Parts: sequence; C-alpha cells; structure tokens
Amino acid sequence: MQASRPTRLGILLSGRGSNFLAIADSIRTGKLPGVEIAIVISNVADAPGIAAAAKLGFATALQISKGRSREAHDADVAALLLRHRVDLVCLAGYMRLLSPQFIAAFPQRILNIHPSLLPAFPGLDAQQQAFDYGVKVAGCTVHFVDEELDHGVIILQRSVPVLDGDDAHTLSARILSEEHIAYSQAIARLVSGEYQIRGRQYLKKDS
Ligand code: GRF
Repeated sequence: MQASRPTRLGILLSGRGSNFLAIADSIRTGKLPGVEIAIVISNVADAPGIAAAAKLGFATALQISKGRSREAHDADVAALLLRHRVDLVCLAGYMRLLSPQFIAAFPQRILNIHPSLLPAFPGLDAQQQAFDYGVKVAGCTVHFVDEELDHGVIILQRSVPVLDGDDAHTLSARILSEEHIAYSQAIARLVSGEYQIRGRQYLKKDS
C-alpha cells in the first residue's frame, strides 16, 4: 500500500456495524492518517450499520445476497468496490462466505475480524463457544481472508481475561471493546508498509 495517495477502504457488513463505526472514528480522530472510507456495502437491507453509514454521509450501497448465487453476488460487490477504487476490503460483521473469484480479485487485500483467538473457535458464536469451553483467556483476531473459513494469516490479536461471573454476553462485550481497537491497529500496520507476510507470519520487514 502506497503512502502517495490515501488508502481507500471498502467496508462490507451485514449487521450492527460497530466495528465499521470504530474504524470511521479512528479516521475521524486522526488515528489512521492516509486512510479513507470509499464505500460501505451491506448484503442485508435493514442492517443498522448501513443506516449509520448513510447518516454519517458515507457512500453506501445495498447488494442483497438473499436468493443469489455466491458468484453472481460477489461479482457485483467486486465491481462496486473496483468502481470506488477500493484498495483494502474490510469485512466487519459480514455474514457471508466469499467466493474464490472474489478473494482472487483482492489478493492479500481482504481483512476480517473474528471474536476469538484463532485458530480456536472459528465459525459462528465464537464467544459462546469459548465461554462454553471454559477458556480463561479469550480475545479477537484480525486476519487476511483466504479460501478457508477464519483461516488466513493473522495480522494481530488482542486478548481479554474470562472472569468468574462472566456469561457469554459479558465476555462478548469485553471482546468487542478490544475488536474496536484491533481493527484500526491492523489497518495501520498494513498501511504503514512496514510489515510483510512470510509463510503464516506477519512480521516487521526488518525482523
Ligand atoms: C463482531 O463480533 C466481529 O468480530 C464478527 O461479527 C461481529 C460484528 O459486530 N465478525 P459489528 O457488526 O461490527 O458490531
């Protein structure tokens, strides 16, 4: 990613949108210099996140996925992202698997946030899975997206303790606070140009 022009984010979401709002807030408060949000896309018509994005004045689009093939839907989303000159695609609660074609269109340019310390507890209800398992440390992971679910190279993780008296709800809230920090930190690492992928490691270039 080059510093010569702003890095343009395309945000994909399906729901609440609190991670999107945290990224937007980092940009607004100067914590992500050289980054801008090009477009926010939802695959769900009544996602609160897309309403919030429109209210804040961001470019928004609905690409409803229900009833469409993954390939056809993804092709439309990819076209929209390219039209808005998106450099980096950020999945922020996007409840849809991506087609191989979509992933190939943005090589190492798609990020996801997952509410567990991967590779533990991939898939749905990660916080409930972690709680039910009885872990003592939980957290979140920002990673590159590859063709396997919740699997790509890890950019960073943030951990939280699981406290006596927690339930899945209180644990989720504690993890979510860290998610809101982690996503912007991960974007900052990418945009800095100071990191590289080596195998499954995401490392500082001089390390
Ligand atoms: C977050 O917990 C995120 O880790 C997961 O989906 C949830 C989305 O929350 N992928 P929000 O829509 O960003 O509030």
